[in-house]
Amino acid sequence: MNTKPESQSLAAWVEETREGIDSGRFPARAFNDQAVYDLEQERLFSKTWCFLAHESEIPHPGDYVTRYIGNNNLIVARDEHGEIYANLNMCRHRGNVMCKAEMGNASHFRCSYHGWTYKNSGELVGVPYMKEGYEGRLKRKDWGLVRVRVDSYEGLVFGCLDPEAPPLDEYLGGFQFYLDLYLKHGLGGVEVHGPPDHWIADTDWKICTENFAGDGYHTPVAHQWGFHLGYFPSSGSTHSQGWAVSIPGKGHGIGLGHGPNFPPFGGFPDDLVAEMKQSLSPEQVEVFSRTRTAVGSVFPNLSFLMQPFSLEPGEIGVRFVTMRLYHPVGPGRMEMYSWCLVPKNASQEYKKEAYRAYTLAFGQAGTFEQDDFENWTKVTQAAGMTMVRDVDFPYIMGMDSAPDPEFPGPGHAVVPYVNDTNFRNLWSRWADYLAGEA
Ligand code: FES
Ligand SMILES: [Fe+2]
Repeated sequence: MNTKPESQSLAAWVEETREGIDSGRFPARAFNDQAVYDLEQERLFSKTWCFLAHESEIPHPGDYVTRYIGNNNLIVARDEHGEIYANLNMCRHRGNVMCKAEMGNASHFRCSYHGWTYKNSGELVGVPYMKEGYEGRLKRKDWGLVRVRVDSYEGLVFGCLDPEAPPLDEYLGGFQFYLDLYLKHGLGGVEVHGPPDHWIADTDWKICTENFAGDGYHTPVAHQWGFHLGYFPSSGSTHSQGWAVSIPGKGHGIGLGHGPNFPPFGGFPDDLVAEMKQSLSPEQVEVFSRTRTAVGSVFPNLSFLMQPFSLEPGEIGVRFVTMRLYHPVGPGRMEMYSWCLVPKNASQEYKKEAYRAYTLAFGQAGTFEQDDFENWTKVTQAAGMTMVRDVDFPYIMGMDSAPDPEFPGPGHAVVPYVNDTNFRNLWSRWADYLAGEA
């Protein structure tokens, strides 16, 4: 082992990785390596559209949250006119952190070091000793907070550090069709049910993105208790049914698991279902009707899951939606942000039930969440071992699958649901960014 010299240049490793993905191989090293982490910061997070916040987290003028793109801390705030801005959380005078809270409401931010004051949209408005100290040489308009591009889709606010990157719409590239399955839950859309759970985990962010891009393969094993005790309406013999859909060249992917006996729109209240059908297109209604579980990732680090969870074993239970963001904080280490999304127009009773189901299954101490992290931290730990430098993993399921011509949605849809097609597309996009060719 260890045949590859440590001196192999990172660029050569990235090229080799790109070639390997085409033939269904991906290196373990990618999941825990300082040089790979640094390259991701430099080439990937500086160019991709990254999720910042849901609009319902900052509904009123002055509301703000602090979030990250890569290692950059940002203040995401709604100004007095209702516009949303994202600015680097750093004072332009000497670089102090401007906002030390993770959420709140403020019309202005005043630096705790020398007192420069900015509007929540980022303009510099107050400078102590302006006349006596700067003697007219400082122009306030030149020293606002460093602004980041923002755009949104159906309440999801994204930011991008690259002024030259294509617009969000093009970046999503048709994945909006699938995002709607999580977001158009009635005429009012969805809202967050409280602030996100967030915690640090010794897990590489990419393992989570991959898992949520449609890893139906792990469910009957890692979460087998859910099958056996009746909390999750699927079984080992039917679990592979459904589609894996990817957006070629974009990296986004979703797994749409069917359930032979699962009723269309099961797990949602009837009055809400009527509204959902109005909000979705006929093609989306067709896909939704056949979907039990939808688990998808927006490249690079945002994921969604819609899943039924039975509080009474054996029953269909309630379908909930979780949204999660994987913020990388080091090689093999990340901060997980996890939200529960609920339909704005749903009854309080349904919202409460959905949140309860989310908390039991996918909150920080949720049963499914624990199963996943037990595995993900071990994968990350293994990926950091010296001998693993040379080890690849197989990504060869569905290598020759032709797209399903009957499938009504955009992208590349293949059956069965248990498939590696989405992951080859994900890693190929990731490698394009690392090669500087995205
Ligand atoms: S560092 Fe903020 S005012 Fe000096
Ligand atoms: Fe899982």
